[in-house]
Amino acid sequence: MFTTLLILVVGSTTILATDYILLIDDPDIYSNCIDGPPGSQGINDAFDTSEMLVDVDPDGIHVSGNVTSIWNTSRTDRISARMSVLHYNRGSWEPTVFNSLTPDFCTAMFDPNQFWFKYWFKNFANREEMKEKCFSTAGTVLVYNPFTVVPRLNNVMGAPLKGRYKVVVLFEAFDEKNQRRPSPVCFEVIGEIEKIKN
Ligand SMILES: *[C@@H]1O[C@H](CO)[C@@H](O)[C@H](O)[C@H]1NC(C)=O
Ligand SMILES: *[C@@H]1O[C@H](CO)[C@@H](O)[C@H](O)[C@H]1NC(C)=O
Repeated sequence: MFTTLLILVVGSTTILATDYILLIDDPDIYSNCIDGPPGSQGINDAFDTSEMLVDVDPDGIHVSGNVTSIWNTSRTDRISARMSVLHYNRGSWEPTVFNSLTPDFCTAMFDPNQFWFKYWFKNFANREEMKEKCFSTAGTVLVYNPFTVVPRLNNVMGAPLKGRYKVVVLFEAFDEKNQRRPSPVCFEVIGEIEKIKN
């Protein structure tokens, strides 16, 4: 489902000169968070991905099919989305400058100015239904238009990127009193950054 996240990094770094590609470790692309918040669940707990098709070849990651939400919060909850990129250095994961927090994801997911939309949510076919139910209502089916993700980071500015990186995504639900619900959704994509050209 969440494969397009790889290129989120692109969205935040379109300034200068070097192109990179992210070589993803896991054939399933995403994995559960290693240091997720207590009680967090992975993608495959929160969503039924059995009808999603993912096919990796040299052209990129081809995604189609659909995903059904199992995550059952209330539609009146606010869902926040946090995205952080970490770099592996001397045995530990260190934060980088690439981070973002979207406090109300359900209103932002189809906003054309948001990277969530540009790199991921624009690929959903049933937008009206998703706007109504968001993806925090159990049973909501998120239907993909088939698309291809190239995990390539173009025109990255600043110090050269090198080594192992991961993108961590955390979705949290808050009730009407702004209390955090117990089971946030957390997943990460880990890979090796490789330079393409100068
Ligand atoms: C979900 O995807 C499967 C496999 O591609 C397909 O057979 C099914 O019709 C899809 N369901 C919806 C609601 O799009
Ligand atoms: C979702 O939660 C509501 C209220 O908390 C409950 O009534 C409903 O049965 C739950 N649905 C599923 C599919 O677990």
